[in-house]
Amino acid sequence: PHEFPIERPTQRLLVVANRLPVSATRKGDDWHLELSAGGLVSALLGVKQNFETRWIGWAGVNVPDEHGQQTLAAALAENGCFPVWLDDDTVDQYYNGYCNNVLWPLFHYIGLPQEDRLAATRSLQTQFKAYKVANEMFARAVYSQYQEGDVVWCHDYHLMFLPKFLKDMNSQMKVGWFLHTPFPSSEIYRTLPLRSELLKAVLTADLIGFHTYDYARHFVSACTRILGVEGTPEGVEDQGKLTRVAAFPIGIDPQRFIEALETDVVKSHIQELRARFAGRKVMLGVDRLDMIKGIPQKLLAFEKFLEENIDWRDKVILVQIAVPTRTDVYEYQRLTSQVHEIVGRINGRFGTLTTVPIHHLDRSLAFHELCAVYAITDVALVTSLRDGMNLVSYEFVACQTQKKGVLILSEFAGAAQSLGAGAILVNPWNVSDVAMSIEDALTMKEAERNERHRHNFMHVTTHTAQAWADTFVSELNDTIVEAELRTLR
Ligand code: G6P
Repeated sequence: PHEFPIERPTQRLLVVANRLPVSATRKGDDWHLELSAGGLVSALLGVKQNFETRWIGWAGVNVPDEHGQQTLAAALAENGCFPVWLDDDTVDQYYNGYCNNVLWPLFHYIGLPQEDRLAATRSLQTQFKAYKVANEMFARAVYSQYQEGDVVWCHDYHLMFLPKFLKDMNSQMKVGWFLHTPFPSSEIYRTLPLRSELLKAVLTADLIGFHTYDYARHFVSACTRILGVEGTPEGVEDQGKLTRVAAFPIGIDPQRFIEALETDVVKSHIQELRARFAGRKVMLGVDRLDMIKGIPQKLLAFEKFLEENIDWRDKVILVQIAVPTRTDVYEYQRLTSQVHEIVGRINGRFGTLTTVPIHHLDRSLAFHELCAVYAITDVALVTSLRDGMNLVSYEFVACQTQKKGVLILSEFAGAAQSLGAGAILVNPWNVSDVAMSIEDALTMKEAERNERHRHNFMHVTTHTAQAWADTFVSELNDTIVEAELRTLR
């Protein structure tokens, strides 16, 4: 037996997502980089060991001048990020249009644009073309970073053509694709014009991943129904070529939160917030201001709870962090006004001279503020109408080691499949049911809270982002070896 450990080179991983983990804003000649919002970034930040990772994506800003591109590229490179430059028109047609006014609502069961949503856009055909062009730009950016042996991991609904363009450039490239949203029932998916082209493009990947088994099953059904290919236990088979399809539930980096709670800055925020909300139970919502998050429905449920529980009126506060997102898309603008109107109404109805029941913020919090507010919360409300996974629920659990608060969680979030036994599951459309669950959560006995928290905490700390990435990449490597063996047989 040899006595020296065998040094294996770290595998290079090219992570490609529409949005880089940092977004840039220009301040004169300088660039200000800020952590981007959303579950995808939150999970991928946890993927730090085991791979030499490079990120390729859009920095969220149009940089038309060469000097700007050079200085921003240099700042991003220090963070392991490599930009794709998208001009304003591409952003409008590809990102605002096809990604966020067509695919995003379709994948979350809202359906294709109709009436005012359709009037607010140019034709789907034009947007689809822009989508393909943008995907080609991402492919070129990947290719310029690619070295033989790299694993290329494409993320999300923005980049469904990317596997195809990459394979066209180099058929030997190891390419995986992961969807961070639900994949809807084929009954919804098949309404999409040009539905086959997208499916065929994704199927050129070696491995396709979803958060849950249901999403994977819906995808396979869409392929069999629309393309007439064969669904097998491993995935989708077309004329002897197998594309592996499987579920890989995502997680967070729980340690990042647990360790933050021990820092002085978070501890002092916790103290401040406790003093500020003394004598009242704190309920919390943290969402991007997106129609899939069910914020209006959540507010209506809270209003019903206050209506029916007079004694609770001055003893509970709902802190709602609503992070602005996709603000150029009409539906998001409409939602913002709607949410503001409901918050105003409830605060007007139930507020007093010194306090209001809803503390609503139209912005994100800094990481240490977020940890502190998670830690002092008694009840978290995650009431998405549809959600791929929802990692806010995971982050809340990670920060509740002391308090052991209650999680109210939508049945329609992927997380319901992993935190279902510890959370109170609700149908977010049923406002009365959610109102009753709020009461149950606020009055839950300590023993039950402890038990529910123990269950959730165990899950969140064992099903981490790192484990998710390790499993996906090792499955991708195996899939390729198996495919090579099959060709030798
Ligand atoms: C979701 C999507 C991500 C996206 C994030 C933020 O989590 O799955 O791909 O990055 O929302 O949305 P934005 O449009 O701001 O990138």
